[in-house]
Amino acid sequence: MSNKRNTLTTASGAPVGDNQNSITAGHNGPTLLQDFHLLEKLAHFNRERIPERVVHAKGAGAHGYFEVTNDEISKYTKADFLSEKGKRTDMFIRFSTVAGEQGSADTVRDPRGFAVKFYTEEGNYDLVGNNTPIFFIRDAIKFPDFIHTQKRNPQTHLKDKDMVWDFWSLSPESLHQVTYLHSDRGLPATLRHMNGYGSHTFKWVNAEGEAFWVKYHFISEQGIKNLDPALADKIAGENPDYHTEDLFNAIEEGDHPAWKLYVQIMPYEDAKTYKWDPFDVTKIWSKKDYPRIEVGRMVLDRNPENYFAEVEQAAFSPGQFVPGIEASPDKMLQGRLFGYSDAHRYRLGANHHSIPVNRPKNEVNNYQRDGFMSVDGNGGNKPNYEPNSVNGPTEDSEAKINPFEIYGQADSVTYDSDDHYTQAGDLYRLMSADEKDRLVEAFVGHMTPVTKDEIKLRQIEHIYKADAEWGERVAQGLGLQVPESVK
Ligand code: HEM
Repeated sequence: MSNKRNTLTTASGAPVGDNQNSITAGHNGPTLLQDFHLLEKLAHFNRERIPERVVHAKGAGAHGYFEVTNDEISKYTKADFLSEKGKRTDMFIRFSTVAGEQGSADTVRDPRGFAVKFYTEEGNYDLVGNNTPIFFIRDAIKFPDFIHTQKRNPQTHLKDKDMVWDFWSLSPESLHQVTYLHSDRGLPATLRHMNGYGSHTFKWVNAEGEAFWVKYHFISEQGIKNLDPALADKIAGENPDYHTEDLFNAIEEGDHPAWKLYVQIMPYEDAKTYKWDPFDVTKIWSKKDYPRIEVGRMVLDRNPENYFAEVEQAAFSPGQFVPGIEASPDKMLQGRLFGYSDAHRYRLGANHHSIPVNRPKNEVNNYQRDGFMSVDGNGGNKPNYEPNSVNGPTEDSEAKINPFEIYGQADSVTYDSDDHYTQAGDLYRLMSADEKDRLVEAFVGHMTPVTKDEIKLRQIEHIYKADAEWGERVAQGLGLQVPESVK
């Protein structure tokens, strides 16, 4: 009986005699401590949940591949997976909402996470972006405060519009992203019908050691489709997993979603003189100044077999680069280089790299050993120190970072420009009349529950500075006046 294919076993592999009835003392008596299978089953069940991601807790994932479609990209980066047209790399993506908990509704107004892991032959490269090209803040030191305002009030445990708008109105650098969020794109129809962006500026380095600044844009081949706000609310009530279901079903039915990857490339020296600070993640680069260059195509063609194993345990880190791709001095990105792997150590443990969805497909050779859940052989009998004289792995100077100059004094300072209004106003002015109407409606709807006029007026002032007509319209919608001092 022991090794029959369908025999239910304990975790230690022994066949289970009865999985329906606990062992009791006598026919109607209490359950015996001797029922080890019962105890193991209850105890494991109690440990099924791991900490959810502190942000981006609700998500859906898929496997796929990335194929280079432009032979010219090696001019800008020596990254091997981008080296030649036709080169394919396996990848995994996780889409998410930001603020809600793991069971929250998919169709709320929120940015969507767009986290991509490329399993390259030179190690895993993670691009952990959003469906927006910009962000709310531009210094990592503000991130925990910002996220607290998006989560629940510490007393009422309710979402709190006062907290949200108090923070945004006191952090005017958020206006550009807040505008994006309240535009039609804040409610994507499906995860397939939205673009993805790396958002930050990254550094690319080619084989000659020449450096460039780069921004990533994944453009949906399905096109952009958004939900009408009333429909989004209705769906949130009826099917909170609407986006998750749509993605799974599309892939299952062979309707594989695809995105073209483009980059904007800025010559290294331009960063010193460009009209916007290229490392300020609240700003975009004009496509006229830096046109999009096609890089390749991402196709999602395989659903995870097990949600927890592959999606919940997926660990994306903006610090995971490959040679030819490096960080920029963006103060948000710099904080993220620490934040994610630290979250993974907390959420999944020190050995999260060896969980299959996170494990690089090339060989991993290092001197890190031990720790909870060391399940990949732990380096076997290979040396666990370096330098050594027993032929252990050694570094490759080709993989050193590209050196860069630094100057100035160590200090805590903001970015030079505090023009938070031009790009937000441009975004408004670019919209059609209908889009403007919906944007104003979304702002008014979202700000109406704010209990303090002082907060509303502070935000109106920012909107007015971006575009007077837009400011007047939001003020009017809220039954307020733009303060004379602002005009
Ligand atoms: C998830 C921190 C800014 C996109 C997370 C997680 C943390 C975090 C701790 C959870 C990670 C995990 O448990 O696996 C931060 C910090 C930021 C920041 C400290 C600023 C300093 C951003 C920005 C973007 C972004 C600017 C997009 C451009 C994401 C995405 C996820 C995520 C997509 C979900 C990754 C996944 O699907 O597993 N963030 N974040 N974050 N963050 Fe951020």
